[in-house]
Amino acid sequence: MKSSIGSALKKLFDEGVVKREEVWITSKLWCTDHDPEDEPKALDKTLQDLQLDYVDLYLIHWPVSMKKGSFGIKPEHLTTPNIPNTWRAMEALYDSGKARAIGQPKLHKFCKSKGIHLSGFSPLSSYHKDNLLNNPVLNMVVEKLGKTPAQVALRWGLQAGHSVLPKSANEERIKSNFDVFDWSIPDDLIAKFSEIKQASDEFNLHFS
Ligand code: A2P
Repeated sequence: MKSSIGSALKKLFDEGVVKREEVWITSKLWCTDHDPEDEPKALDKTLQDLQLDYVDLYLIHWPVSMKKGSFGIKPEHLTTPNIPNTWRAMEALYDSGKARAIGQPKLHKFCKSKGIHLSGFSPLSSYHKDNLLNNPVLNMVVEKLGKTPAQVALRWGLQAGHSVLPKSANEERIKSNFDVFDWSIPDDLIAKFSEIKQASDEFNLHFS
C-alpha cells in the first residue's frame, strides 16, 4: 500500500523540489519481523509504502521480539529474541543495497555534519538496566571517578554530544542524575567505552 508519506516524497522528487540523494530516510524493523525470513519482506513493504528503492538507514527498532502478526506492546506478545540472527539478516539487507546503512555511528556522524542534535531516549535502558549498570567497563570507570554507574553512563552520553533523558520516580536518583555537569570522564577512559561489545558486534557491523 502506498502511504501518504510515500506519495508526498514521490511528488517532491517528480517535481524536482529535492533529489532522492538530498534527503536522508531512516526506517525501522518492527519487533514482529525479527525472524530472518520476515526481514526482507518488512523492508520491501516499507520501500513499497514509501515508493523508494532504498532507505538510507534501517534500524532494529528495539532488541525486543514479538510474535508475528501481533499488535501492540503487551507482555503476552513477547518472544525470545535472537538478535545475532536478526542482525545477520540486517547485514543481508545492507548487502542488497536496499538499506544503505544499518548501524548508529554513521547516523551520529551524519547528524553532526548537518547540525542535527541527537537525544538519548532511555539512556539507562530500563529494559536492560541491570546489564547496563553492571557492565564491567562502566564499573571500572565508576571506580576510578567515584561516581555512580548511572552518572557515568549519562555523562558518557553527554560527552558524545547528545542530550540524555533518563526517567526516575525516585527523588534521590533524580538529583544524582543531574549531578553530571561539573565533572568529566577523561579521554583515555572515554576510549574504553568503545570496547563494550554490542550484542551484535561479533557479527561484522557495517559502520562504514
Ligand atoms: P527508578 O524510577 O526507580 O529510579 P531510562 O529512562 O533511561 O530507561 O531509565 C529508567 C529506569 O532507570 C527506571 O527503571 C529508573 O528507576 C532507573 N533509574 C533512574 N535513575 C537511576 C539511577 N541513578 N540508578 C539506578 N537506576 C536508575
